[in-house]
Amino acid sequence: MLLWREKLPADWLPKVLGNLSAVLIDHAHLERKAATTALNLEKYRQLYSRVDELNAIAIEELQHFQLVLQLLRKRGIEFGQPHPSEWISGLMRAVRQGVQGQVIDHLICCSLIEGRSCEKFQILAEELSGIDAELAQFYGSLVESEGNHYATYILMARSIDDGETDRRLDFFLDLDARLIRAPNSVPILH
Ligand SMILES: [Fe+2]
Ligand SMILES: [Fe+2]
Repeated sequence: MLLWREKLPADWLPKVLGNLSAVLIDHAHLERKAATTALNLEKYRQLYSRVDELNAIAIEELQHFQLVLQLLRKRGIEFGQPHPSEWISGLMRAVRQGVQGQVIDHLICCSLIEGRSCEKFQILAEELSGIDAELAQFYGSLVESEGNHYATYILMARSIDDGETDRRLDFFLDLDARLIRAPNSVPILH
């Protein structure tokens, strides 16, 4: 797993645990966006040969989306509007446009989002075990899949240009560290 350059802020966990319904709605949107992101990556010619793998990720994310929706319904939580994430938009704004390396940047961003999701789901699986067994089990069940998505995206970037991936990963890990320190009281995962 990645060596993050900044830990999650101390107020992240209490915020999430104190707003579980809102966070579940946000999580549903996160899975929906992860599915569309996998499909969006298929626009890059460097990834045409990986289209089956990307479709498989999109299908998996759509299944996650369905699972969160089922959980929302079971708990009587109404599906609602997504909140924008400053962390995600901050990463995505740094993707260089119209250059050869755009695909590398885009893959690294996707990878970091998957990696942070994996990290957070693992924490939630542990922290929720004594509070909400069903939710703890659910988050635990997603950890491996999001970890695989993290690895797949980074390996896809490396297969296109290993050196450029190292350089840009260095840049994006610094950016992640800077963005994650920003105060964020919105009840969202990221
Ligand atoms: Fe997912
Ligand atoms: Fe994922």
